[in-house]
Parts: sequence; structure tokens; C-alpha cells
Amino acid sequence: MTSNNEDGVRIGIIGGSGIYNFDHLKTIKEIYHETPWGYPSSKITITEDPRGFKIAFLSRHGKGHKYNPSEVPSRANLAALKNIGVEVIIALSAVGSLREEIKPKDFILPDQIIDRTKGIRPSTYFENGLIAHVSFADPFNQTLSELIYKHKNVLEGGGSTLHQNKTLVCMEGPAFSTRAESNLYRSWGCDVINMSAIPEAKLAKELEIAYQMICMSTDYDCWRQGEEDVTVDVVVNNMNKNSANAKKLLEAILPDLEQSLNDGKFESNKGSMNYSFITNKE
Ligand code: ADE
Repeated sequence: MTSNNEDGVRIGIIGGSGIYNFDHLKTIKEIYHETPWGYPSSKITITEDPRGFKIAFLSRHGKGHKYNPSEVPSRANLAALKNIGVEVIIALSAVGSLREEIKPKDFILPDQIIDRTKGIRPSTYFENGLIAHVSFADPFNQTLSELIYKHKNVLEGGGSTLHQNKTLVCMEGPAFSTRAESNLYRSWGCDVINMSAIPEAKLAKELEIAYQMICMSTDYDCWRQGEEDVTVDVVVNNMNKNSANAKKLLEAILPDLEQSLNDGKFESNKGSMNYSFITNKE
């Protein structure tokens, strides 16, 4: 898929539960076009911060949170961002913590995913006669993760810690896990749990977009004795607190990110699909 970067925006942010807009920044334009995979879950807002950095913001669950994790039109979301020229996506997501040391309101940069979705989410652009198997050994972009991690002090000032290189388990939902599942994921070495990394991370690879998720811990799921089991109330309450911190972290990384884009630090993603096609083109 080619892209059309008439707005000069190369950075995309996908907001998760609790982060439905970026209206603390100046809106330049709103875009809501149908893609071959339908409409994205929200309009894309092109915003500009006071220093002139532009970002494209899209709400994963839509305005008012109307798509459950299995219903999110991820192919349309990622295609719409690619189509306006986005090369790098930072995806925000609320997660449950499966580790004592990852406390509610901490932030996490995962480097691995265990996929526990149920195969019901469309998770590829390659079907119906054009087949490709994308490399997915490293589902996130390590250059982007390092860049974000350099700014961890922004969070530590606010009493939250930024953890790097953790394993995320992505479950189908929408019900939260049972206690046995929560303990199973801990025994597998998983550190955090959400319902949103799949298929976004796979689709970003297929589109050659550098993709990193910033996870924001809201709860201890249901494994920890003496802790309230996760509920929507707990998640929303802590997400509201996380949202200010997320905006602060993004503000801190933007100059570095723009510079890295200008320096070609994400160029290695481009052309990565060249080795993924298996369909005989003759
Ligand atoms: N999102 C936030 N908390 C979660 C949890 N405990 N399980 C799955 N997704 C979550």
C-alpha cells in the first residue's frame, strides 16, 4: 500500500481505553475516509503541538468507547494511518499487571507477545490469492522502545516507573481472565495482559510501520491475594490518572522521534515485506 503524506505527518498515536482524544493540542484537520477494510474506529485527528510537531491521533475503541476489543476495525485503522503517510505508531493500552513489581500506574514497553486471542479477529491484509507470511519474531520496534525508554525520568517524577522489555499476553476478552488463567500466564513468564496488541502489531509489520505499544498498568488482574480483582471501575479510575502521564511522556519524546525519523532510523522497516510473499506471481 502506498501512502500520501500531504499533511507532513509521520507519527501516529493510537489511544486506548481512557484516551479518546488529543484535544489538549491544536487540531489542524480531521480525516475520516473509508478504506478497502471499512471505516476506521474514529476520525483521525491531525494535531500540532506548540513546538510545531505534528501527530495523527486515532481512538482504538472509537468516541464513547463503542468497539469491544474483538470488534475494533484494526485493518481499517492501520491502513488509514498508513494512507496519510504515518511511518511510526505509538499505541497506548491499559494493561493488567501479572508481576508484583509492576504496580498500577506504572508504564511498560513490551518486547514480546503471547497471542491468546481466538483467531476471530481479521489479522492480515494478505488473503484471497495474494499470500504473505510476515516475520513476527520481534513484534515491536526496539529502536522506538529505546527512544521512549530514554525519557523514563518524565514518569519517575510523577511516581510511576517505566519498565522495558516485558512480555505481554493478549487475550480475547471481553470478560477478564479467570484466576487459574491469570496464574497460568504468570507461570508462562508473562508480565502484563491486555486485549489490544493483536492484530495491531501484526498489521503494522505487514504495512512496514515501526510499531511500539506503551502499556499503562491499571490493576493486578486477579492473581494477587489481598488485592481487589480487576473491574472496569478500577481500570477506568487508574486510566484517568495514567492519561496525564502518557501525554507528558509523549510530549517529551516528540523532538527525539522527529529527529530519528529525519535521520532515517526507521528506514530498515521499509522493504521488509519483500521477503514475505509466497504466492507465485507468474
Ligand atoms: N486491561 C486492563 N486491565 C486488564 C486485565 N486485567 N486483563 C485484560 N485486559 C486489561
